[in-house]
Amino acid sequence: MWLPCGCASKCVVASLSRRVFRSYFHVLGGRRHNIAAFMPESAGFEGVSDCSALQEFSVSNSESFWAAAARQRLSWISPFHTVQDCDLSRGRIKWFEGGKLNVSVNCLDRHVHTCPERVALIWERDEPGSEFKVTYRQLLEMTCRLGNLLRRHGVKRGDCVTIYMPSCPLAVASMLACARIGAAHNVVFAGFSAEALAERIRDAQSSTVITVNQGVRGGKLTELKKTVDTAVQSCPTVQQVFVAMRTENPVAMTAKDVAMEEEMQKEDVVCEPAAMDSEDVLFLLYTSGSTGKPKGLVHTQAGYLLYAALTHRYVFSYHDGDVFGCVADIGWITGHSYSVYGPLANGGTSVLFESTPIYPDPGRYWEMVQRLKINQFYGAPTAIRLLLKYGNQWVHKYDRSTLKTLGSVGEPINTEAWEWYHTVVGDGRCPVVDTWWQTETGGICITPRPSNPDAEIVPGMAMRPFFGIKPALMDTEGEVLTSNHTSGALCIAQPWPGMARTIHNNHQRFIETYCQPYPGYFFTGDGAYRSKEGYYQITGRLDDVINVSGHRIGTAEIEDVVNQCSQVAESAVIGYSHNIKGEGVYAFVVLKKGMDVEEMDLSRQLNDLVSKKIAKYACPDCIQFIQRLPKTRSGKIMRRVLRKVVEQDLNGLGDLSTLDDPAAVQEIIEGHRKLS
Ligand code: WTA
Repeated sequence: MWLPCGCASKCVVASLSRRVFRSYFHVLGGRRHNIAAFMPESAGFEGVSDCSALQEFSVSNSESFWAAAARQRLSWISPFHTVQDCDLSRGRIKWFEGGKLNVSVNCLDRHVHTCPERVALIWERDEPGSEFKVTYRQLLEMTCRLGNLLRRHGVKRGDCVTIYMPSCPLAVASMLACARIGAAHNVVFAGFSAEALAERIRDAQSSTVITVNQGVRGGKLTELKKTVDTAVQSCPTVQQVFVAMRTENPVAMTAKDVAMEEEMQKEDVVCEPAAMDSEDVLFLLYTSGSTGKPKGLVHTQAGYLLYAALTHRYVFSYHDGDVFGCVADIGWITGHSYSVYGPLANGGTSVLFESTPIYPDPGRYWEMVQRLKINQFYGAPTAIRLLLKYGNQWVHKYDRSTLKTLGSVGEPINTEAWEWYHTVVGDGRCPVVDTWWQTETGGICITPRPSNPDAEIVPGMAMRPFFGIKPALMDTEGEVLTSNHTSGALCIAQPWPGMARTIHNNHQRFIETYCQPYPGYFFTGDGAYRSKEGYYQITGRLDDVINVSGHRIGTAEIEDVVNQCSQVAESAVIGYSHNIKGEGVYAFVVLKKGMDVEEMDLSRQLNDLVSKKIAKYACPDCIQFIQRLPKTRSGKIMRRVLRKVVEQDLNGLGDLSTLDDPAAVQEIIEGHRKLS
């Protein structure tokens, strides 16, 4: 069982009576109404008496706010001289320049110093009931051995190491080992295919890959090392592959391969941390945009870590001794910020979830909550929607009384799922924080908490900006919408430390995508509604990116693959409303003239192709073969029309006068009717 260590008594919040002030809601709601107790770094900010005053202060006095937070929360090797030097219109974003620090020291050494036996990670392995705990001392040891191993194999400061592993302590140690020696990491979700992995390795120019022999998920084995073998064949930069053993099954090793655990044993447990500049690269993380090529977003050291740490503590009301359960895979930004960097920077205990919500049965999450005594649970709406269909008995079976906050991320959470999460999972006791953010933002930007304890939370709304975040909604003319009860393109009006700095090797694309659409603002690609009360609700993507089970994918990426099939002339892929996945993938496919194919066979072939080239989750749920696509006279596909046909909103087809051949639409409507 988890026991808070001695150092908890030194923390300001904990030095209030821990029993009375179990969470900051109580701190704020109590007679002491002391914001500085809630957020120590705010002490001395004039006129700041509660959360909303602190939010306003953090936006209008951004430099003072972030400087205080950075000094309080991070351990510096040498202090920064400039809080920020940013010009959003030119894509220049720099925070805490002059400062030197090491991220792994912030996540490990400083906690080892005060409480070495505190549990840092609880690895919730796929096999239920076989969790594995790693203390801060052990994690530092693993990280140092790995850091030394990487150094011995020639990995240098500034290199980029690709990590292709499922969520597990060695994956976290690999990330931190890179940070320790000043290398950047590039974690690739272990569900990606060999080709998708190869594309990311090549773009990142990695010479080193870290993987495991096999993955285990939902009781099934996946051949991750074999996938890496295939990938590296088309990656001339790769010189070495470190292979850890997740299962006992041996794998064929090549000349490039290094048995990771064996070699780690030979290394020293002390590894000198590199003194990194605040703006040195910490990691790349590839994500989808509206063109076919995934982009490697770049996050840097100090600003990212500070933002992950601060959001983790205050959005979830995380306190020393809590067990934080973020069930996202480390291959996504949610895993980076809220399984690894945020919790570890705060000296927290973080659960690494390797399994699925329904393995071995739909009670998995809640059995885990009971067994591990999880205090904050952070998951995706797609899983909540899936679980609610199995019924309440799977939840009621288990004791969830340790839960204090429930979080949701990755896609809009519909009201039914929100209510179920709140009333059934949380017994109506726990605030549900619907957190909006992106790979680009580094951490949570719009969220119901932190806010004053009596501040309301509206189901399905992300609600309020986090400290330092100033949202803006834009109309179609590019003007800022100042009133409430209005919808527009969601931008952020001033820089914050957690934001991505660039796209690897393509700063121009970064500027064009995020900075140019609304000069002086960061454009998120999402639309949002601001209610009469000033609360934000995310309405979905404004570009051709769709969100399948919380996984972000560009429709153009899928089209690229479908079009590679020799029988296909062209295709158009759209997202459509799906009751479990949030969005499903619908592909319209035009065959080359004279092709005589069995549609079922070809559908199967196309699915295999997408799975092979990208990943399973990107496979079309529905493929409709058509004679031609609806196009404008200038040749642009009218996706709006395709979406309306699939939504069966034929009255909403809108203006078809620019269509090259209006008969195309009629054919598509009839074809769709037959399919559905
Ligand atoms: C969507 C995941 C509605 C949004 C952290 C965003 C959301 C994209 C929410 C980023 C939310 C994320 N409500 N939509 N609470 N959270 N999104 O980069 O469209 O994988 O732009 O980061 O997911 O996905 P990404």
